[in-house]
Amino acid sequence: MDKREFLKSSSVLGLGSLLSFSALEKLIQSVEHKSSEELASDDEFWMQIRKGYKLKPDYINLENGYYCIQPEEILEAYIKHVRDVNLQGAYYMRTVQYENKKSITDKLAELAGCTSEELIITRNTTESLDMIIGGLNWQAGDEAVMAEQDYGAMLDMFAQVAKRYGVVNKTISLPMNPKTDEEIISLYEKAITPKTKLLMVCHMVNITGQILPVKRFATWLTKEEYR
Ligand SMILES: Cc1ncc(COP(=O)(O)O)c(C=O)c1O
Repeated sequence: MDKREFLKSSSVLGLGSLLSFSALEKLIQSVEHKSSEELASDDEFWMQIRKGYKLKPDYINLENGYYCIQPEEILEAYIKHVRDVNLQGAYYMRTVQYENKKSITDKLAELAGCTSEELIITRNTTESLDMIIGGLNWQAGDEAVMAEQDYGAMLDMFAQVAKRYGVVNKTISLPMNPKTDEEIISLYEKAITPKTKLLMVCHMVNITGQILPVKRFATWLTKEEYR
């Protein structure tokens, strides 16, 4: 099926029957044996996922940044939860919220493959990364390495720590068409010095969609000399 046709037909289909959590679980189990490549082109599967969303038929939304539309069932559960909290007020905040957060953290930790003590729930990526960038014990002269093509909110935070603590930001520029992964890795390698305290490498550049060899980075960074 042609992509445009698929998006059009799925937006019509999606308005009627919504996908429930249990149906979603069954759907995912039914495709577990498929490779990600096979699943990517499985129109039937994506039609079913599409059913969970209620979207305006006036246009085709291709942007998941800036505002991430929630599936209807999640939206309803979220609204119900806000109502419940609003009904209980401080009682909820001083008692129940801790048990609820603990049970969610436990489930997420299982999914992420870590312990619940190692997992912190934040509101988004910006908050998570800025917490790390802004939260290090920076000393004047410490260095941080990043790329010109990294996300603006993080670059702003690096600019702020430079101003506040005298951190030196070393900014590399990623080539659009690198011939090898090493070409990228060596750019970062050249920017690292004994004063480097933080290295930021994104998996996918949001401006171009370029995917960086993060697995290679992880192997390279475990080399003795960088410990
Ligand atoms: C590479 C990259 N990092 C961070 C973010 C920020 O994500 P969030 O809006 O969840 O804070 C985005 C958002 O598009 C992004 O593309």
